This record gives sequence, structure tokens and C-alpha cells, in this order.
Amino acid sequence: MKTNHSKSVLKSAGRPAARSAARPATQLVCPSAPLAMLLLALAAVYHPYARADAAADADAAAQVAGQVCSNCHGPAGVSISPMFPRLAGQQELYLAAQIRAFKSKTRADPEAHNYMWGMATLVSEPMVDALAHYYSTQTPGPGIAGDEKLIAQGKRLFEQGVPERGIAACASCHGADAQGRSIFPRLAGQHAAYLVRQLDVIQQQLRTSTIMHGIVKDLKPDEMKAVATYLQSR
Ligand code: HEC
Ligand code: HEC
Repeated sequence: MKTNHSKSVLKSAGRPAARSAARPATQLVCPSAPLAMLLLALAAVYHPYARADAAADADAAAQVAGQVCSNCHGPAGVSISPMFPRLAGQQELYLAAQIRAFKSKTRADPEAHNYMWGMATLVSEPMVDALAHYYSTQTPGPGIAGDEKLIAQGKRLFEQGVPERGIAACASCHGADAQGRSIFPRLAGQHAAYLVRQLDVIQQQLRTSTIMHGIVKDLKPDEMKAVATYLQSR
């Protein structure tokens, strides 16, 4: 909260449209409480200098999740707004890696900057693992129905890739049911709008993922939409 960086996050948080002006992508809706208030709540709930042990961390993680993170990511990590990713049932190692990527600012797309950098700064190292554990053990939300034709097209892409264009089958890493494993994120039941945004952001190399950069570099917008619609329906 004391750093210049956090201040700039707070200042810019009210006008995401200006930061994202160059991008045609969807605009985030406002969370249910102003970001500044959420940052204050986070600082109040979690005291980084308190004695740390595993049980205390787990309790504090549930509190932080319920009082702060839930404002955007929904109760127990099942978000309603497609602008905010669902975290429930996500892979533990992947979650921890992403929170650390926000802390180290290697995940550097405009939404990460506006919403998650300031938040992650206030999350201590043990709390990163405790929050990752908390969300990975919550029940994933149900799939969301979509256009059947797109779903069929997306399923094909997910399971087979596009061999003639050197695009690998997504299922080979993300799992046959898109449930993920270890550092490979769960994609099943994730909001399509969020998935498309991330595929776009990864293609622009705003997220550090050497593995994914190669895979999505030639993915077309209609293919992103199809595979995201399929995954959201799972
Ligand atoms: C003010 C809204 C807001 C709050 C509060 C918030 N987040 Fe986020 N979070 C976002 C947005 C927006 C994204 C997507 C960032 C992007 O597009 O790169 C995100 C992304 C994430 C991701 C990456 C998910 C993925 O699938 O890669 C994790 C993990 C995460 N948040 C954890 C948390 C935790 C833990 C808290 C509480 C300490 C929290 N967030 C609080 C808005 C919020
Ligand atoms: C060789 C393994 C591999 C393959 C194949 C692969 N991925 Fe990934 N994917 C990853 C890894 C690793 C990450 C995590 C990246 C990170 O840490 O930032 C990831 C992340 C993602 C994300 C971000 C998820 C989130 O919650 O933000 C999306 C979306 C995604 N992959 C979609 C796909 C699609 C669609 C395909 C097929 C066209 C695919 N992936 C193929 C390894 C793979």
C-alpha cells in the first residue's frame, strides 16, 4: 500500500478503459466494491507479521478469500461475471504460480496490472500457497451452455489440434476433460470471454509462458472463440 506502484494501481483502477484503449477486447465491469477498499480489507484481514503456521495460514486464507477475493472471483471461487476467472477447483501449483507471476509482474496484461498486481503485492509468500490450496479444494462451478456448432468445432480443436498447421492438441497437456494437472491449468467450466482474452494476451506475449507461446502463435480469433465456448460448456 505504501509503494508508488500500488498508488498507481489505485489511481488507474477507476479507468480501465483508458489503459485498454488500444485493445478491442471486452471491458471489465466494476467489481462490487472499489478496489481501494478491497486492498484495505486485505491489509486488515491478513497481517504479514503475524506468527505463521499451516493451520493459521489456512484460516487466514479462507478469510481473505471470503472477504476480499470473492468480490471479483465469486463465493468460493465460482465467479459470476465472465470478466473474472473462476478459481474453484483450479490446479494448486498453477494457482500459486499465477499469484507469484502477478507479484513479480511477469503476467503483465492491462487487467493483471489494474486488478491483480496491487492485490498480489499484499499477499505474503506463505499466504500464496494457502490461497492456492484453498481454491484448489473448492468445488468447480457447472459448465455454461453455448452454441452447439461452435462447441463441436472447439471440441475437435481441443482434442486433435490442427496438425496441418502444427497446432498441438490442447488435451495433451490440459487433460482429456480439461481438468488440468500440476502446472497445466484446468480450463473446464472457465468463462469463455476470459479464456479468449488470455489466449489473445498469451499470443501477444504479455504472459510469460514459453510453452503456450509456441502453441497459440497461429491460432485464429474464430478458433479461440470455438475452443473457449467448448471449454466453458464442460
Ligand atoms: C478487483 C477484482 C479482483 C479481486 C478483488 C481479486 N482478483 Fe484475482 N483477478 C482479477 C482479474 C481481472 C483477473 C484476470 C487478470 C488477467 O486478465 O490477467 C484475476 C486473475 C486471478 C488469477 C489467475 C487465474 C487464472 O486462471 O490464471 C488468480 C490466481 C487470482 N486472480 C487470485 C486472486 C486472489 C487469491 C485474490 C484475493 C487475494 C484475488 N484474485 C482478488 C480480479 C480480481
Ligand atoms: C505443451 C503443453 C500445452 C499445450 C499443448 C497447450 N497448453 Fe495451454 N497452457 C499450458 C501451460 C503450461 C499453461 C500455463 C501458462 C502459464 O503458466 O502462464 C497454459 C495456459 C493456458 C491458458 C490460460 C489459462 C488461464 O486460466 O489463464 C489457456 C486459455 C490455454 N492454456 C489454452 C490452451 C489451448 C486452447 C490449447 C490448444 C490449442 C493449449 N492451451 C495447449 C500448456 C499447454
